[in-house]
Amino acid sequence: GYRAEDDYDYLFKVVLIGDSGVGKSNLLSRFTRNEFSLESKSTIGVEFATRSLNVDSKVIKAQIWDTAGQESPYVTHGSSEGDFDVVVVTFEGGVIAAYMQWHCACFCSALQDEREKKAPGQFDILLARYRAITSAYYRGAVGALLVYDVTRHSTFENVERWLRELRDHTDPNIVVMLIGNKSDLRHLVAVSTEDGKSFAERESLFFMETSALEATNVDNAFAEVLTQIY
Ligand code: GTP
Ligand code: MG
Repeated sequence: GYRAEDDYDYLFKVVLIGDSGVGKSNLLSRFTRNEFSLESKSTIGVEFATRSLNVDSKVIKAQIWDTAGQESPYVTHGSSEGDFDVVVVTFEGGVIAAYMQWHCACFCSALQDEREKKAPGQFDILLARYRAITSAYYRGAVGALLVYDVTRHSTFENVERWLRELRDHTDPNIVVMLIGNKSDLRHLVAVSTEDGKSFAERESLFFMETSALEATNVDNAFAEVLTQIY
């Protein structure tokens, strides 16, 4: 029968995480608008989009959150041992916060080192903001797509850190799917399907290889996560 556009039975928040450039935003645009862009820019701040799916004659509305991976738009605060990368969070055109995009642990140890040298107040504020924004991003999430790029091994190595951050900020029952994206680049593969699969098995994650470009497995991946949540 007829259902209004905004009529749904369940609303599930799903977050996208993973290194910069792995294809999070294109997975989101492919799933919610069937769009792909070869020249997409790194995400600034936090964005989200929705799409409704039918599962068991119920309407499940997925609200998918997307943010920048580590190497994104920065204000950089200098330090003697390399710079801290700080992401500016904007909302309706206004800057609401600046925060450290990478996981808290490495930031905390850097903070310890810095504290002795200079500007302790500045880093305390930054750390507090980082915590506030990170928990806001993860708050209420019941599913996550943890994405790496099958052509860049470092993005696979970083999956462990993303998983730790996710576990630190979410309910233990969250449904997590590990995604090896860019499966269309067959001649450039640097992470085998087997390696992805066995990591996922070890960590009790669902696993899929996708291509946002060719639209391979994108709907399947989101649908599987939503069905598992449901
Ligand atoms: P941040 O916002 O910086 O964290 O990056 P992101 O993870 O959102 O990556 P984004 O979606 O912006 O994609 C980065 C680049 O990879 C873009 O040039 C995309 O066109 C490309 N890309 C994304 N998905 C695929 C894919 O499935 N195949 C191929 N070949 N390229 C892809
Ligand atoms: Mg992005």
